[in-house]
Amino acid sequence: MSYGRITGWATNLPERVLTNDDLAEMVDTSDEWITARSGIKSRHIDGTVTEMSAIAGRAAMAMAGVDADQVDLLLLATTTADQQFPASASVVQHELGLTCGAVDMNAACSGFVYGLVTAMQFMNGSVDRILLIGADALSGIVDWTDRGTCVLFGDGAGAVVLERTGDEPSLLGWDLMSDGSAADILYCDHGGTIVMHGKEVFRRAVMAMTDSATNAIARAGVTADDISIVVPHQANVRIIEASLKRLGIPMERTAIVLGHTGNTSAASIPLALVDAIDNDRIAPGDLVLMVGFGAGMSSAAAVLRWDPPAS
Ligand code: UT7
Repeated sequence: MSYGRITGWATNLPERVLTNDDLAEMVDTSDEWITARSGIKSRHIDGTVTEMSAIAGRAAMAMAGVDADQVDLLLLATTTADQQFPASASVVQHELGLTCGAVDMNAACSGFVYGLVTAMQFMNGSVDRILLIGADALSGIVDWTDRGTCVLFGDGAGAVVLERTGDEPSLLGWDLMSDGSAADILYCDHGGTIVMHGKEVFRRAVMAMTDSATNAIARAGVTADDISIVVPHQANVRIIEASLKRLGIPMERTAIVLGHTGNTSAASIPLALVDAIDNDRIAPGDLVLMVGFGAGMSSAAAVLRWDPPAS
C-alpha cells in the first residue's frame, strides 16, 4: 500500500505591489493603522486566477518531475475564478497540457485545506497524481473606496503535486466545518464587491480556527506540543495570535507571510507553506498543522506528516 504525499510545490504572486502608503493615498487610512490592526505592509494585485495558477502549477510539476500526461486530476481551490464559467481549472488544465479531469472548488479561504483533504481521499483509492492549486485574485472584487476591506486583500497562487508514493500515511488527521448561518457576515454577490462585518468575522475566525485545529490534532492522535509548525490562513496576525494562544502553541512555531501578501484567500496557506519550506523551517517527519477559515463561514484543518521525496 502506498500513501499520498506532497512531492512538488511552487507559488506565484503578480508583479504589481500595492503598499500601505499607496493605500493611504486612495482612502482615509495609514501604514500605522493597517500594520497595527492586521500585520499587513503590502500586497500583490492585478493577477488573474488562471495565469497565477498556471505559473505555480507548471513549476510544482517541474519540481516533482511529473509530466502533463501523468496528472490524474486537477483541483483548483478558488473563490475568484476568472469567469462565472467555465471553471478556471479547465483553462489551467489546457494551459498546462493536462488531459485529466479538472474542477474548481469554492470553500473560500478554507479552500486549499478542503482541496488537500479531498485529494488525499482520492489517493486512498486508485488515483496516483493530483495537482492541487489554491489561487485567488481578490483585487478584482475589492471595493477600493471601502477602507474596512480594501487594505486587507491581495492576489496569489500556490500549487502542490500529490503523489501516491509514500510508505506511511502523510495526512494524519483533518477537520472540515461549515456554519452557513454566518453566510451574511462575509460575502460577494455576482458582479459585486466584498462585504465584510470585520469584528464579527474576527470573533468567529478565532473560534473556528481553534475548534478545527483542535479536532484535527485529536483525530491525528497527537497533541499541540507535537506540532512542529502551524501554517494558518493569512488574514490578520491578531487572529493568528489569538488562535495559537488558545491552542497553546507559541508564535515562533508559525509560518507568516501576510506582511507582504495580505489575505490571498485560498492561496494564503500554500504561500505560507512554501515560504516555510524554502526557509528550512520544515524537516522530514515534522508535523505540520494547516488551518484556515473564511466565508461560509467555513473552516478546515489538517495535520500532515512532512514526507518529501529524498533529494
Ligand atoms: O479571510 C477572512 C477575511 N476577513 C478577516 O479575517 C477579517 C477579520 N476582521 C479583522 O481583521 C478586523 O476586524 C479588521 C482588520 C477588519 C478591523 O480591525 P478592528 O480592530 O476590528 O477595527 P474596527 O473595525 O473596530 O475599527 C476601529 C476603528 C473604527 O473607527 P471608530 O469607529 O473607532 O472611529 C474604524 O472606522 O478603525 C476605523 N477603521 C480604519 N481606520 C483607518 C477601519 N478601517 C480603517 C482603516 N484605516 N483601513
